[in-house]
Amino acid sequence: MKTFTLGQSKEQVLQMIPEKRIKLVQLGGEKICISRNGEAFFAFEPFCPHRMASLLQGTIVRDEIVCPLHEYRFDLRSGQVLTGQCPDLKVYKVELSESGLEIWI
Ligand code: FES
Repeated sequence: MKTFTLGQSKEQVLQMIPEKRIKLVQLGGEKICISRNGEAFFAFEPFCPHRMASLLQGTIVRDEIVCPLHEYRFDLRSGQVLTGQCPDLKVYKVELSESGLEIWI
């Protein structure tokens, strides 16, 4: 597992990732999505585990994401599928600190 840091301060990260938007970032060899609800950040795989729709067009509702294709819902903290039947979404540990957003991949 590797740790990556996005940004150099908390304020910079909050500006870089507007609330409820989904941003695609490349960290090492992995592309992952980052989103937030207030100061709660989420990091998750960019494709839906159901039929691989891009989650960049997904909708963030509190700490869940709704897939744009068949509207399955996933808990962004655990990755658990909440509506629909498919494997869970892969999520990554993230933590906002004064020195940026740390992501464990
Ligand atoms: S592809 Fe995401 S719910 Fe079907």
